[in-house]
Amino acid sequence: MNHFLDIHKTDASDLRQMINEAKRIKTARKGQPKGTPDAEQPLANHMVALIFEKPSTRTRVSFDVGVRQMGGQTMVLSGSDMQLGHGETIADTARVLSRYVDMIMIRTFEESTLLEMAEHASVPVINGLTNRTHPCQIMADILTYEEHHGSIKGKKVVWLGDGNNVVASLIHAAGQFGFDITISAPETLQPEAGFVAWAREKGVRVNLETNPQKAVEGADLVVTDTWVSMHDSQTTKERRHNQLRAYQVDDALMAHAKSDALFMHCLPAHRGEEVTSSVMDGPQSVIWDEAENRLHAQKAVMRWCLGK
Ligand code: CP
Ligand code: NVA
Repeated sequence: MNHFLDIHKTDASDLRQMINEAKRIKTARKGQPKGTPDAEQPLANHMVALIFEKPSTRTRVSFDVGVRQMGGQTMVLSGSDMQLGHGETIADTARVLSRYVDMIMIRTFEESTLLEMAEHASVPVINGLTNRTHPCQIMADILTYEEHHGSIKGKKVVWLGDGNNVVASLIHAAGQFGFDITISAPETLQPEAGFVAWAREKGVRVNLETNPQKAVEGADLVVTDTWVSMHDSQTTKERRHNQLRAYQVDDALMAHAKSDALFMHCLPAHRGEEVTSSVMDGPQSVIWDEAENRLHAQKAVMRWCLGK
């Protein structure tokens, strides 16, 4: 049994195997109606709890559909309806859930909630996003890059905007999959220094470049995300928008990247803020494949967690 807590906490060879497995899983059910069971049913007789303390469209639906296609059953739980962390300790909830279900996916605020759940659960726990990281998203992004342009190893990936939870997992992936990453964010919204140092120790180039045009020069992949995350206080919204305006991904900025560079966004996007509709709907954008690939990548993650 394995927990999937973060990309930097998972063996690089296991991550590579999961991406290859996701490619195989995706190919195997190409063109089938969404309700068709997968030919392989590794989650037959398995019950999976999907816990959400924050809103979600992609994570909720892709995990739910993924479990069902693999033959399992799901239970979607809202954190606010549970005793989680207020009626009882996270550890006690983890012990109890482990008696009812075979795997737990949780989207939460504090990373400590995820870690406490994993420490005390006797079934695998998957990180469906915390304030600090979003590893399932980045597994889907690696799959998406590779199905369009082949191996991501040695490529130049550029992040623009807030140094948030999504770029944290992208930095971890740079270290594990061996690509270079440039982060272009204002001084006050840089990613965690510890994550940057970790990736550099793995031997990849991590550049911090506050000038967005310079950052994007020669990029193979350009990535951005919302300027205000779910855990950020709404009172910072106006200040953040002022700070981040120069980092909007538009056609002029994309012109600095390689001509065949891809554009990704984990979604939900704020059209006209961090990215223009012209880029989102343009020929370099692979955002819908990226969203679809949550399903395939997470199937590989769940199989790895259960040793299947
Ligand atoms: N990208 C992502 O995790 O989307 P949701 O918040 O809709 O799950
Ligand atoms: N950074 C965003 C990602 C949403 C999928 C957030 O945490 O709100």
